[in-house]
Amino acid sequence: MTRALTEPELVAEGVALGSRLTPGAVVLLEGDLGAGKTTFARAVARGLGVAEAATSPTYALVHRYHGRRGPVFHLDCYRLRSSEEAADLDWEGLVAEGDALLVEWPERVREWLPPATHRVRLRHLDDPARRGVDIDAGPA
Ligand SMILES: Nc1ncnc2c1ncn2[C@@H]1O[C@H](COP(=O)(O)OP(=O)(O)OP(=O)(O)O)[C@@H](O)[C@H]1O
Ligand SMILES: [Mg+2]
Repeated sequence: MTRALTEPELVAEGVALGSRLTPGAVVLLEGDLGAGKTTFARAVARGLGVAEAATSPTYALVHRYHGRRGPVFHLDCYRLRSSEEAADLDWEGLVAEGDALLVEWPERVREWLPPATHRVRLRHLDDPARRGVDIDAGPA
């Protein structure tokens, strides 16, 4: 079911999702440029107990935050230049160590991704203050 949410509503939704995730969650964030993936990922991180997710992942592929149960990894795969770069990531380490993995642009690392526990799809709407949001539990 797609819902049209304002930014505060989207953030509240992300915090709520983050607070109900169980260890080992893999959350895929799909959507066009500016659709709200980073906004949502930060909110999920907050729900996982991350106090400071202020740094933008714009200039790094992997961001590591401290959640209440353990590390939260936020990947922005838009930055990936080649599939070799994706292969170079320590996927096993991320999965083994992370309380959660939040992945922007998952389509770019599809073959490396562990099975997703949640898939979030965001899209632009005619109303520029809202985004269409679908949250599915289970493999993408
Ligand atoms: N309802 C909304 N939900 C989320 N973001 C919104 C909403 N309305 C406006 N915005 C704005 O849209 C922008 C979303 O940017 P954000 O970086 O989260 O998108 P993104 O999908 O991560 O983009 P990119 O593809 O560049 O990584 C922000 O500037 C935010 O303030
Ligand atoms: Mg982003």
